[in-house]
Amino acid sequence: MAHEVRAVVAREKGQPVSVETILVPDPGPGEALVRVQACGVCHTDLHYREGGINDDFPFLLGHEAAGVVESVGPDVEDLAAGDFAILNWRAVCGTCRACRRGQPWYCFSTHNATQKMTLADGTALSPALGIGAFAQKTLVAAGQCTKVDPRARPEAAGLLGCGVMAGFGAAVNTGGIGRGQSIAVIGCGGVGVAAIAGAKLAGASTIIGVDIDPRKLATAERMGATHTVDSRDVDPVEAIRELTGGHGADVVVEAVGRPETYKQAFYARDLAGTLVQVGVPTPGMTIELPLIELFGRGGALRSSWYGDCLPSRDFPMLIDLYLQGRFDLDAFVSETIGIDDVEAAFEKMHRGEVLRSVVVL
Ligand code: APR
Ligand code: ZN
Ligand code: ZN
Repeated sequence: MAHEVRAVVAREKGQPVSVETILVPDPGPGEALVRVQACGVCHTDLHYREGGINDDFPFLLGHEAAGVVESVGPDVEDLAAGDFAILNWRAVCGTCRACRRGQPWYCFSTHNATQKMTLADGTALSPALGIGAFAQKTLVAAGQCTKVDPRARPEAAGLLGCGVMAGFGAAVNTGGIGRGQSIAVIGCGGVGVAAIAGAKLAGASTIIGVDIDPRKLATAERMGATHTVDSRDVDPVEAIRELTGGHGADVVVEAVGRPETYKQAFYARDLAGTLVQVGVPTPGMTIELPLIELFGRGGALRSSWYGDCLPSRDFPMLIDLYLQGRFDLDAFVSETIGIDDVEAAFEKMHRGEVLRSVVVL
């Protein structure tokens, strides 16, 4: 029997989203039905609506979510009704070439639900990142539910499902930032600030936040930046060098997704330093760099997909740190809103007024 629930749908490219009644099937083999409690509003939802991801409209938006498992498919063993879970978009397959060589955080064949959720007239929906959680209930692959301590507040916990994990992992997993090292983070939105919080937890001693918005720099400081740089006023490469003994940072995280900030990150590294790109560029963007500088500066230029996370390893660990008061996930929740307020939240995100608006269902 299909469940009728309210959900946020993007029907047409560039058009405002609508709240509609959709049909969510009962879980089949390998699937789980989740009663969504909270779901953050992310840039990627807006990208879907703008047609920036693909043209498979209509989309069911929302993908940074936490909720309670309502039922599971017949063969699902390690998940049960009543479990509190964060939804992830990396349910690893275990058999692709990345999984087989022991690098499941790159899994090239991740699982999603097999059955389709639909509009009332039967039109199949494309769930954002294979999740679709701006809905009272959603259907996912069982492996997309990562069980965590149920004492965590869903509004905060859900954010680990995307942006916060991406930023945290960019610094810690991809950048390998550690005790006593220096890091600069260019772009201090939700993703960049999570990188800063991660670097603080990992013991970095110099943590530099760079942004063009003083409100974001204030948040960066609250979350662990030891220094901030307003790159409207000063050259960030020079400023980062000055703050790191004239050398540049061991790790620079690019959390904007633009060519000019990528170049800044490239030049703001120490020799043999690591650049981590977590900001997502648009398809037309290009950069030009002198090849001799790529060689001469050495080190690593890395991309961070979803913070190179392994949900089963990283979500429960970060929720435990959150519950111990060592990782302030609540600080990422700028406001809680209703399911009808997603368009307004896109506007606020666009104006840079929030780290995250979170829909409570
Ligand atoms: N230099 C420095 N900071 C900049 C610049 C710039 N030239 N341009 C924009 N910024 C800052 C903004 O002021 C903002 O604080 O970058 C930040 C981007 O943050 P958000 O818009 O809140 O985006 P966020 O959710 O943090 O995601 C950042 O990571 O995962 C990707 O798709 C995501 O590309 C996006 C990026
Ligand atoms: Zn795999
Ligand atoms: Zn996201």
